Amino acid sequence: MKPNHTINAAITCMGGFVPEYRLTNQELEGYVQTSDEWIRTRTGIGERRILKDETKATSDLAIAAINEILRKKNLDPKEIDCVICSTMTPDMQLTVTGAYIAWKIGADNAWGYDFTAACCGFIYGLTTAATYIESGRFKKIIVVGVDNMSRFVDYTDRNTCILFGDGGAAALVEPCDDTSLGVLDSVFHSNGFGRQLMNQKAGGSLKPASHATVDAREHYAFMDGKAVFKYAVEGMASSSLEVMKKNNLTVNDIAWIVPHQANLRIIEVVAKEVGVPMEKVMLNIEKFGNTIAATIPLCLWEYEPRLKKGDYIILVSFGGGFTWGATLLKWGYDGSDFIGK
Ligand SMILES: CC(C)(COP(=O)(O)OP(=O)(O)OC[C@H]1O[C@@H](n2cnc3c(N)ncnc32)[C@H](O)[C@@H]1OP(=O)(O)O)[C@@H](O)C(=O)NCCC(=O)NCCS
Repeated sequence: MKPNHTINAAITCMGGFVPEYRLTNQELEGYVQTSDEWIRTRTGIGERRILKDETKATSDLAIAAINEILRKKNLDPKEIDCVICSTMTPDMQLTVTGAYIAWKIGADNAWGYDFTAACCGFIYGLTTAATYIESGRFKKIIVVGVDNMSRFVDYTDRNTCILFGDGGAAALVEPCDDTSLGVLDSVFHSNGFGRQLMNQKAGGSLKPASHATVDAREHYAFMDGKAVFKYAVEGMASSSLEVMKKNNLTVNDIAWIVPHQANLRIIEVVAKEVGVPMEKVMLNIEKFGNTIAATIPLCLWEYEPRLKKGDYIILVSFGGGFTWGATLLKWGYDGSDFIGK
């Protein structure tokens, strides 16, 4: 349900980047007791991209994604008002990766900051950007969903190391004259109960780094996957249905669902509960794994050439915290316009 404003915000271009190195299930079989067959049937993941260059980090993934937008739109970075970097894996603690990204791309007139909402980072960040644009105060905002999760994964823990990959994708968000198009609505939720089920135990203010925390391997990702699974299904299915109902839409009106890519089984159950056929579900989990804040924008980036002006699209996610929710878009341009640019 759109609030009563005269300016709409819409995504006007996507850019994306994944690093070159492919970490296959076969390679993981050499690190932990697992198998290609188990990983494929339990998660749908075939391989993930890993940033191997130790001199590079999250900001480099983001910058590569944003540079594609600058190229495609022939955009002067000085025109950008704001860079929102949605990430759980900033380059460093106690400094702002979004500010660094804005500086590195030459967005000299922009303010940049980080947005922390785990796998919901992109959809929460997109809604924030849309609200800024609708206020009339800002004209061009970059939202980049990016994570360099491989740096926080314990490659001796088979419960987590099979799941995650690195990547980043960015959206340019601008005012849209046609107020029927753009970012139409969002339903968002959170529940802090979830923090016990997904976290990095040490390195935050609750438990700063010490020799003991390093020895206990507490600087790596922890997840009780089985417990999270059922909350993820329930949260993603219910928020997709909620955003459709609130906007008087049925599944027949929806062109695409873009679910967070944590597990293909979760995605299939959500699609079934929502009543959407898998042909309308965007997927990249088989080749990229779970890239946290990047899964949804990476899908939009890859499917961009197939998107048509006027398509209703639901972005839906569930992540650490817990955080979950769905955003409804009415796509603002024919994605094929960018083919070959
Ligand atoms: C993590 C996840 C893939 C595990 O799949 P699962 O089907 O739940 O598997 P389980 O944890 O029940 O484990 C089943 C068995 O496989 C084993 N197993 C776990 N990981 C394994 C692996 N990589 N290879 C082989 N066996 C494995 C377990 O030890 C267990 O063995 P047991 O029955 O002898 O104890 C799945 O729970 C998941 O995707 N969870 C949600 C992730 C999510 O939504 N995150 C939110 C956003 S990031």
